[in-house]
Amino acid sequence: MKPTWFDKFACTPGRLTLMEGAFLYAAALAASRIASSGNMLELGTFRGRSTCAIAAACKQVDMRLTTIDNYSQGACPSVGESSEDVVRANLEDAGVADVVTIVNGNSHEYQPLAGLSFIFIDAAHDWESVVADCDTWWKDLQMHGILAFHDGSHPGVAEAVEALGKKHAMRPIAHVGSIIAFEKTGT
Ligand SMILES: C[S@@+](CC[C@H](N)C(=O)[O-])C[C@H]1O[C@@H](n2cnc3c(N)ncnc32)[C@H](O)[C@@H]1O
Repeated sequence: MKPTWFDKFACTPGRLTLMEGAFLYAAALAASRIASSGNMLELGTFRGRSTCAIAAACKQVDMRLTTIDNYSQGACPSVGESSEDVVRANLEDAGVADVVTIVNGNSHEYQPLAGLSFIFIDAAHDWESVVADCDTWWKDLQMHGILAFHDGSHPGVAEAVEALGKKHAMRPIAHVGSIIAFEKTGT
């Protein structure tokens, strides 16, 4: 039987659990329906484990995923190194490379990607970075689009999510493994 994106996801090194990967796929698919149009964004690619899951959803609904990493390894010291070439090869194996734009850059350096339906934040985990990541891209997330954070119980992420909830209109919709997901309900 031909391997699926899930097979590649499962054997790509990274800390996302299988349940979290399945959730990301389903949430991205749901976001594409709710927001009706729009592409997706991931901050923190590492070797592309989570990227496989979100890209598989994009492929189903004819959307694109932009994934940004500066390959600093700041947040993944225990798992090893990565690079754009490693990510590209993993996405090709998963059959999703054609819907992904791989960006080597800083996750809070804005570039116009208007009309996002789904954002997954999993880059640096200190609260200043998580807040900056969300603030940078918030205006591009469509109303009712989904914003998800990995490692929600990490102190930096938890504090950032609390602060962000006070300044942006976002409704909690799911807590799966360590992923916390919100629906955008206002500006
Ligand atoms: C937790 S890992 C991402 C894991 C990935 N989502 C997965 O499923 O395997 C965090 C990644 O964020 C990247 N990173 C850390 N700070 C960054 C920044 N300011 N801009 C872009 N990438 C950053 C690191 O290089 C690392 O690859």
